[in-house]
Amino acid sequence: MRNLIAANWKMHKTRAEARDLARALADALAAAPASPSAEVVLFPPFTAFEAVREGLGEAKIDFGGQDVYPAESGAFTGEISPGMLLDAGCSWVLTGHSERRHILGESSVLVGEKTAFALKQGLCVILCVGESLAEREAGRLEDVLQAQLADGLANVPAEAVSRLAVAYEPVWAIGTGKVASAEDIAAAHAFVRSRLNALPGTEAGQSVRILYGGSVKPENAAGILALDNVDGLLVGGASLQAETFLRIIRAGQTA
Ligand code: 13P
Repeated sequence: MRNLIAANWKMHKTRAEARDLARALADALAAAPASPSAEVVLFPPFTAFEAVREGLGEAKIDFGGQDVYPAESGAFTGEISPGMLLDAGCSWVLTGHSERRHILGESSVLVGEKTAFALKQGLCVILCVGESLAEREAGRLEDVLQAQLADGLANVPAEAVSRLAVAYEPVWAIGTGKVASAEDIAAAHAFVRSRLNALPGTEAGQSVRILYGGSVKPENAAGILALDNVDGLLVGGASLQAETFLRIIRAGQTA
């Protein structure tokens, strides 16, 4: 299974900054290609898709949207459809990021609608799940993951499972510098894997990549990638500079 190394730029980067960052990544990977075992995907803000496309040129790097609405078109002010993402050159989308769940109040049911609809429309999806500190301290880790996965994966068509990935991002580790311990990551990923195996077709569950996200840095990337059931990384802050993100991409080659 190829490691998926994904960059979530969140609400950062003007068009010029996005073009420069995409170009810097493309140039560096052209000069010293990433191993075929690492697949790289960028999640810029919607306004920067065209700039990212220009910056990437012929580089084998895909990009995607940070969010999507589960309808083809219509009166949904402020929203973006899967077809619009595909039209803009996206092949991926994130669903259920904790910032959308906790800051924007997005429900797990809506996250599931987005995930299923985006897959049906042909996008690849990274469904994000993860517990808050209060939930972890209350011993509710597995309940929370179970509920988010049950709602998030409801109605995922069996033929689309090959385009699905799941990111485990403990909320308390995002942007805080606090990385989950190796034991915590391994336990959470094993639990996610067990739930994926309960999807129709056990073999399909085995093929779904499970990414870790939360304060990933060049220094900890290789160690996290070496853990069981870790098939990639979803990187926030450390993906905003070419130099640090490239070190993370290259960490994936040696793990
Ligand atoms: P940080 O890497 O900044 O902690 O963000 C993680 C994240 O939320 C990626 O989606």
